[in-house]
Amino acid sequence: SPSDPDLVERARAAKEKLGDKVFVLGHHYQRDEVIQFADVTGDSFKLAKDAAARPEAEYIVFCGVHFMAESADILTSDDQKVVLPDLAAGCSMADMATAEQVAECWDVLTEAGIAEQVVPVSYMNSSADIKAFTGKHGGTICTSSNAKRALDWAFEQGEKVLFLPDQHLGRNTAVREMGMTLEDCVLYNPHKPNGGLTVEQLRNAKMILWRGHCSVHGRFSLDSVNDVRERIPGVNVLVHPECKHEVVAAADHVGSTEYIIKTLEAAPAGSKWAIGTELNLVRRVAAAHPDKEVVFLDKTVCFCSTMNRIDLPHLVWALESLAEGNLVNRIEVDKETESFAKLALERMLALP
Ligand code: 13P
Ligand code: SF4
Repeated sequence: SPSDPDLVERARAAKEKLGDKVFVLGHHYQRDEVIQFADVTGDSFKLAKDAAARPEAEYIVFCGVHFMAESADILTSDDQKVVLPDLAAGCSMADMATAEQVAECWDVLTEAGIAEQVVPVSYMNSSADIKAFTGKHGGTICTSSNAKRALDWAFEQGEKVLFLPDQHLGRNTAVREMGMTLEDCVLYNPHKPNGGLTVEQLRNAKMILWRGHCSVHGRFSLDSVNDVRERIPGVNVLVHPECKHEVVAAADHVGSTEYIIKTLEAAPAGSKWAIGTELNLVRRVAAAHPDKEVVFLDKTVCFCSTMNRIDLPHLVWALESLAEGNLVNRIEVDKETESFAKLALERMLALP
């Protein structure tokens, strides 16, 4: 739907008034009405780097979700302020691993006598607390665009990996890209005693996967892939690695949101694509390539509701408040958490 012209004008005016003092980052899952005001767009990895590369901006307005704004705060200097236009823009996957649960898991690994062999690798989609835990225990952060490199690094440091909180990204990377088997992976359920695992299972595992998932990508199924292949002969199926293993195994291409965009840019005219990721991005990609047939992998899957909380009225409110010298919705990670989380994020940024 077209943006309200009055709000568009207000956003433009507030941004102009702020000038170089503000830098607006937009994740690829954001609405069109918001993305039009982003100074840069990207996947989680690119946005983390872009936030860190703007030391002159006093305000970083993050159009994305809470964990991304936290990461930006960790990676920017103390006098830079990160603003999330709607504080309710969280991520259900990130919420699936709390600091208490992860501390308890570490106790379980310690009691099983394997904690010393375990390197934590945490997906960017996690709270600053989880990132701090990761840094404290010698681990690294990864995103969907560098998960294999992060795991390669981790297996140089230790024999086992505790992968938090997305079981699918962990399993897909281990099995698709690193030659591990499904049997090398065990699923740790934080709601069960000892994660629902025996000591023997923990000792035999290479990958200990946290039982978290993305509610949006979790809805794509093997049927979605089979149906689209039947409907559109010759279609290329391109999915995000947060999809279930059976979906990823049946797809032709797998990658981050940035990868999805680049793949479509490089695709020949007339080629056919079914994309399994969030709907705002798929619609934009389809609109950008009228010479290609681009469809949504499964019409019953929709927007990420928390990403969509950042809408034009919230962005206008945040920009106008800042332009009036009113700092609103600041995301600020406490110093202790920040120092350990930063360690983990810097290990990611230093990956070869
Ligand atoms: P990427 O943009 O890194 O592919 O991540 C997707 C996602 O789910 C962000 O929440
Ligand atoms: Fe979280 Fe999934 Fe939304 Fe990404 S798409 S922010 S992982 S709920």
